[in-house]
Amino acid sequence: MNTESPVIQCIFKRRSVRKLKPDPLPDQDMNLMLECLQMAPSAGNIQPWFFYIVKDQALKDRLCTLSFDQKVVAQAPVVFVVCARPLESAKEYGDLGRDFFCIQDTAAAVQNLLLAVHAMGYGAVWIGVVKEKEIAACLGLPENERPVALIPVGLADESPAFPGRKSLDKISRVLG
Ligand SMILES: Cc1cc2nc3c(=O)[nH]c(=O)nc-3n(C[C@H](O)[C@H](O)[C@H](O)COP(=O)(O)O)c2cc1C
Repeated sequence: MNTESPVIQCIFKRRSVRKLKPDPLPDQDMNLMLECLQMAPSAGNIQPWFFYIVKDQALKDRLCTLSFDQKVVAQAPVVFVVCARPLESAKEYGDLGRDFFCIQDTAAAVQNLLLAVHAMGYGAVWIGVVKEKEIAACLGLPENERPVALIPVGLADESPAFPGRKSLDKISRVLG
């Protein structure tokens, strides 16, 4: 098996980066990140998502406040907001689509983004959305969109250590 593969290396080396430099990202880099979000798998290929790129400082400051003052949200030159569109999934899959599949789909998109960001030489961290209603209002989201994750992206200003993982015997078992 080729553990030197760039994809495998990217999966292993990616870390959550919580200190970012303010340098702006070139448009073509942001576009490539968007295309990596776009390429994520989704149930039935419904793609029940919408992505916002927040560059406005006042808006980033408000998102920071609504994320328990996690400074990286205000410091990042750009914050991707990954939203789910539950009704698009519900049309095909009913409650399962609305409550479950659309969230899984957006999580897959977020992971694509995190890996792409790392591969492109930037840093990022997944900021969980807790104050969902307030964040939706702050961004003026339509009724059919739920913010699922905030992803501040920029040049890394720290090199975080590997925080460790549970051992494989604690999280996996071969059946048969
Ligand atoms: C759903 C979710 C929510 C997260 N929320 C936050 C957050 O609010 N703030 C933060 O600093 N990291 C957050 N993280 C990042 C995790 O803390 C991080 O992935 C974990 O500690 C492992 O570190 P690593 O990404 O460097 O491997 C979140 C990750 C996930 C998947």
